[in-house]
Amino acid sequence: MLPLDPTWVRSRFPALSQEIDGRIPVFFDGPGGSQVPGSVIEAMSHYLVTSNANVHGAFTTSRRTDEWIVSARAAVADLLGCDPDEVVFGANMTTLTFAFSRAIGRELLPGDEILVTRLDHYANVSPWQALEEEAGAVVRVVDFHTEDCTLDMEDLKRQINAKTRVVAIGYASNAVGTVNDVAAVVRLAHAVGAWVFVDAVHYSAHGPIDVRALDCDFLACSAYKFYGPHVGILYGKRQHLTHLRPYKVRPAPEEVPSRWETGTLNHEGLAGLVVTIDYLAELGQHVLPSGSRREALVAAMEASRRYERELCVQLIAGLLKIPGLILYGITDPARFAWRTPTVAIRLGGKTPYAIAKELGDRGIFTWHGNFYALGLSEKLNVEVGGGFLRIGLLAYNTREEIEGLLHALQEIAAAE
Ligand SMILES: Cc1ncc(COP(=O)(O)O)c(C=O)c1O
Repeated sequence: MLPLDPTWVRSRFPALSQEIDGRIPVFFDGPGGSQVPGSVIEAMSHYLVTSNANVHGAFTTSRRTDEWIVSARAAVADLLGCDPDEVVFGANMTTLTFAFSRAIGRELLPGDEILVTRLDHYANVSPWQALEEEAGAVVRVVDFHTEDCTLDMEDLKRQINAKTRVVAIGYASNAVGTVNDVAAVVRLAHAVGAWVFVDAVHYSAHGPIDVRALDCDFLACSAYKFYGPHVGILYGKRQHLTHLRPYKVRPAPEEVPSRWETGTLNHEGLAGLVVTIDYLAELGQHVLPSGSRREALVAAMEASRRYERELCVQLIAGLLKIPGLILYGITDPARFAWRTPTVAIRLGGKTPYAIAKELGDRGIFTWHGNFYALGLSEKLNVEVGGGFLRIGLLAYNTREEIEGLLHALQEIAAAE
């Protein structure tokens, strides 16, 4: 496999060469949302010119819309390694998760148990906690190790039991980057007959996903985190999508997967999603000319992972040299297979907001706060001081951008 060529990647994203306040901005805000290739922007506007209509009509623009939706399911199936009829679209991951947790709640008996984790984004916590009230479920929280922000698998093993019906787990933490051993969690859950609902929103930008190999029951992600438009995506095993009863309006389709798609979808977003996945496949063809779109997508995400890991080594080594800086999460490069290049820090007495503002004024865009990973920020005791500063790398970031960030942080630290 050839290494990823950042110049080729960057040339595809018009936002990366724009000037803001006289500077080319540096986007380290990827875990909040990535930039978008020009081809995706064009596809969305092309859809609105040539195909804009509702579905299942007896005229051309409606037929074109139906075709875009079919193409979008096929493209996502290649991205996740499933069949097109196992792909559900929605507004975003949070909305889809509430819809599915409620439908799963209909199956639960009072006293049935659900495991969530303290490491996760609350989009994979609150929808399950709502079932305590709605379905009489007992929600248990699996802890994490504060020293490296990895999931406490022993705690998970202690808490999982014959009453566990669902394990809701993140593929990777959007705050500190930890990648969980999802396959191991699925094995433990299936051994007691529980389903596994995976939040892959953060992970999906950083590595290939194979839902069949994971054997998870559900996996949700959001295209705006992996260079696409604002579209929520949910994979569900066909038998679950068929067996569970959605909350839906009566005349809407009964067949799988449309029965899960309430109301009118974001059609221009779905057109953009197809072209996002085509962009990733093209990247894959660059690094490993290969046969199918699925193979090209896996190659693209592997190449991104390798490239991002090199950047992450540089970033973390530089951060650890800054006096007064605290870094939360895995820091040993030998363990970087278990983290994404998303890094949470605190620096001296300044609030994360103040640092993000100083960086923002220099054209370097980072996030501050808890990023809805509230269990994590509470347990690490950073809620009071305004959470973390989060630096998130993607395949379009460069070594030079990281050097610039490190330099700026050194200056901010020295001015304390
Ligand atoms: C890990 C993780 N899960 C869930 C979400 C929520 O995703 P959405 O905005 O699609 O509802 C986010 C958004 O930042 C996230 O990072």
